[in-house]
Amino acid sequence: MVAQQIEAGIHRMTFNDLNACWALDHRCFEDGEAYDRETFRYLLSSPYSVSYKIISGRGIMLGFIVGLIERDGTGHVIALGVAPECRRRGYGHWLMECIEDGFRTHDVRTTRLEVRTTNTGAQRLYMKLGYIIVERMSNYYSNGDDGFLMVKAIGDMSPPEDPSQINGIEKKRK
Ligand SMILES: CC(C)(COP(=O)(O)OP(=O)(O)OC[C@H]1O[C@@H](n2cnc3c(N)ncnc32)[C@H](O)[C@@H]1OP(=O)(O)O)[C@@H](O)C(=O)NCCC(=O)NCCS
Repeated sequence: MVAQQIEAGIHRMTFNDLNACWALDHRCFEDGEAYDRETFRYLLSSPYSVSYKIISGRGIMLGFIVGLIERDGTGHVIALGVAPECRRRGYGHWLMECIEDGFRTHDVRTTRLEVRTTNTGAQRLYMKLGYIIVERMSNYYSNGDDGFLMVKAIGDMSPPEDPSQINGIEKKRK
């Protein structure tokens, strides 16, 4: 564990974190890519939410991850962000490992996420964690950007060979 992780703590994120999470998302996703408050309200109040935050020793949110257990049983990583001044300290990796553990406690066997084809930094993080690209989704984002669908088996099963088995992609980042 790196030194910064010892100083900061990781905790379950709840509806009470709505404003801090929304504000940090806006710092992480500029140029209109951030989710609106209503989307976070929906995500954090869902009984299927599996979400975590990293909090500094001073109580500041440094990173967050929001996931949902979808109807098809996959664990869907919907939003991940680390404060710009805190990047490359292992926080993103830490949040991803934590959400995978959280999904496992609900018997989730496969996780999935979407990432812009241009977001090579995030892709590298996901690949390090064992995610593989299974589909390129043309025009996936509302500004016309393409996305990659990435999946990982976190239980005994392999990821589905047919990506069309993975449905329920409801929450697109704009
Ligand atoms: C993507 C993001 C969450 C990564 O968070 P982070 O805390 O900086 O990531 P980590 O420190 O855990 O990185 C782990 C590894 O991932 C890779 N990685 C992460 N960011 C990278 C970058 N910008 N460029 C290249 N590799 C990167 C590296 O291999 C890194 O290991 P290293 O630092 O030892 O080389 C963060 O950059 C962020 O919030 N970006 C804006 C929001 C975003 O793009 N979210 C993901 C949307 S799908």
